[in-house]
Amino acid sequence: MKDLFSVDGKVALVTGATSGIGHMIAAGLVDAGVKVYIASRKAEDCAEVAAALSMRGECLAIPADLSTEAGCAGLARALADNEETLHLLVNNAGATWGAPLEAHDEKAWERVLSLNVKGVFHLTRFLAPLLTASGTADDPSRVINLGSVDGLRVPQAENYAYATSKAAVHHLTRQLARTLAPLVTVNALAPGPFESRMMAASLRAMSDQIIAKSPLRRLGRDDDVVGTTVFLASRAGSYLTGAVIPVDGGISTLLG
Ligand SMILES: NC(=O)c1ccc[n+]([C@@H]2O[C@H](COP(=O)([O-])OP(=O)(O)OC[C@H]3O[C@@H](n4cnc5c(N)ncnc54)[C@H](OP(=O)(O)O)[C@@H]3O)[C@@H](O)[C@H]2O)c1
Repeated sequence: MKDLFSVDGKVALVTGATSGIGHMIAAGLVDAGVKVYIASRKAEDCAEVAAALSMRGECLAIPADLSTEAGCAGLARALADNEETLHLLVNNAGATWGAPLEAHDEKAWERVLSLNVKGVFHLTRFLAPLLTASGTADDPSRVINLGSVDGLRVPQAENYAYATSKAAVHHLTRQLARTLAPLVTVNALAPGPFESRMMAASLRAMSDQIIAKSPLRRLGRDDDVVGTTVFLASRAGSYLTGAVIPVDGGISTLLG
């Protein structure tokens, strides 16, 4: 058991860590002794979060727009300029869009797919050399993608582009897992409802109903995503690749 769940001394990049689930994961990793880079669009937010987390451990910010190929390439370059190793990439940054069928236009698909799917792919592609160089067959580097319960079963909300993007993330996870083995593992978390900027309006409107319908009768909290991330990133998770792990209080067991 000794050190089975240790991630101490690792280097990680968590995207979209200025808010919500990304922030929970980045904070948990910093507390566990990981040197964490965070990236999202707003430089001021990045600097503020990095400064706050630096009071607890090591955290640095590299602002980037990950909805473009150039933004992903720039972040990978900046990281490689700073670090010779990258043990963990958490592709968390994501966007959603809710609109009825007739109003679900090109703008919705462009905004959601460019970040949630293409961003995950391009950033992983550009960081693959660093991840591969940092992994061994015994202790591979890790990629963790944020999927969603909405990509596992048909959601009730009219979020067509988002649900499609998350199903795509799950499949991309499995395909990248095959390509990047044996030096890098690629897994996904499929969260249920967690408090975040993305979920704020839905939870304001109907958190009681969401909780009542959830088998485990609560929202997700920090420990739930930090625990699964630490598991996947530690020696304990080194034999998993291509897995999509629901962290959803059992919601994926229900019909849509
Ligand atoms: N919260 C939930 O209940 C839930 C459930 C299932 C899955 N998820 C997934 O978990 C992940 C995090 O969601 P969340 O709810 O925590 O979201 P959130 O609170 O809205 O945070 C999103 C983060 O992504 C960043 N971001 C947005 N657009 C970006 C871009 N183009 N380039 C770089 N960064 C960008 C945001 O910062 P900037 O705006 O400054 O860029 C922010 O840091 C997403 O992939 C989401 O789909 C969440």
